[in-house]
Amino acid sequence: MNAIAASEPVAIAPASLLDLWAIRRVEQAAFGSDAYDLLTLLGLALTPRMVRLKATAGGRVVGFVAGEINAREGCGWIITIAVHPHAQGRGIGTALLLATEQALGASHIKLTVRRSNTRALALYERCGYAWVNTYRRYYPDGEDGLVMEKWLGGV
Ligand SMILES: CC(C)(COP(=O)(O)OP(=O)(O)OC[C@H]1O[C@@H](n2cnc3c(N)ncnc32)[C@H](O)[C@@H]1OP(=O)(O)O)[C@@H](O)C(=O)NCCC(=O)NCCS
Repeated sequence: MNAIAASEPVAIAPASLLDLWAIRRVEQAAFGSDAYDLLTLLGLALTPRMVRLKATAGGRVVGFVAGEINAREGCGWIITIAVHPHAQGRGIGTALLLATEQALGASHIKLTVRRSNTRALALYERCGYAWVNTYRRYYPDGEDGLVMEKWLGGV
């Protein structure tokens, strides 16, 4: 994907099964070897009541987020959020995150992030998330996962 011009308007909209391949490209470019495989992305596309949003610019999908309500815990979880490297740093990740929080309509939202992912951690903290737990050796390479949580007012 060529760089997205900073002047290109970005739209956030529900993603559908038709976006699967474009979402896969974004996930692979953003996450590298951590990217979900096609089957997992297909599962996200087909799971009922999953919130799935895409960001598009210049007719191309440049970002994706999925989140769902965990009925047992009574809160929302962000399952994945990714912005293509060529479109990062323009507020798209923030916009996707905030739109998903709104669509989930939960009193609080959680997500897991690699301890070393300082950029994502900074974004989450800026958006009101705070550390609540550590999953030791959560990722396949042994890195810890930090659980971040945000409480939303008025729900
Ligand atoms: C984490 C991720 C989703 C953030 O997406 P993003 O679109 O770059 O996020 P934002 O642009 O909203 O915010 C990121 C940065 O851009 C800056 N920014 C936001 N809007 C901006 C704008 N209009 N112009 C310039 N910079 C801007 C923010 O201040 C922030 O600054 P930073 O460089 O200190 O981090 C993205 O980096 C990504 O896909 N990473 C790889 C996958 C990943 O780690 N996902 C999270 C797993 S838990």
